[in-house]
Amino acid sequence: MININSAWQELREKVGNCQKCGLCQTRHNIVFGEGPVENCKVMIVGEAPGEDEDLSGRPFVGKAGQLLTNILEKGGGISRSSLYVANTIKCRPPDNRNPNRNELIACSDYLEAQILLLKPKIIVTLGNVSTKWLLKTDQGITTMRGQWFEWRGIKLFPMFHPSYLLRDQSSAKNSPRYLTWIDVRALKAKIDELQ
Ligand code: URA
Repeated sequence: MININSAWQELREKVGNCQKCGLCQTRHNIVFGEGPVENCKVMIVGEAPGEDEDLSGRPFVGKAGQLLTNILEKGGGISRSSLYVANTIKCRPPDNRNPNRNELIACSDYLEAQILLLKPKIIVTLGNVSTKWLLKTDQGITTMRGQWFEWRGIKLFPMFHPSYLLRDQSSAKNSPRYLTWIDVRALKAKIDELQ
């Protein structure tokens, strides 16, 4: 049987030495991910590290990260530290542009290995990049969010990316924030079903 901790460490070192795409030249740190590795119930997959994450080496620590924590904890009653938080790619694209196809391909084995080692019961994709990449769909997040899909037998639940919610502050009925509040409660209900 694979020892998850040593396999995890090995994978982290591999990513730390990665030079598969040009982002290795501009990164300060890889952002591998953070959270419980053993008995992981839920894995969050964001897009890519931003400036704060690149400098600290930790996922979702900037403004979007603070909003993510709020959504989970205040909206859903889900403790952020109970989830594993990672990104589709592990290095920051310059100027926070979207990852390009080559970068997504170069990094995809790492994300796949993380998922296969963690074996989460639920994957939550945040925004277009991770949702489209994992589900191999052209459908945008607005049509995908709040519904249950599967990635190789694991439940997958797309939600809006918190950066998008920072740009649209409305909480009016059916606004992205309003819908996110509904989605996080649906996520919590599903987590409770697993207990
Ligand atoms: N946005 C992301 O998608 N991931 C991070 O880690 C930070 C911001």
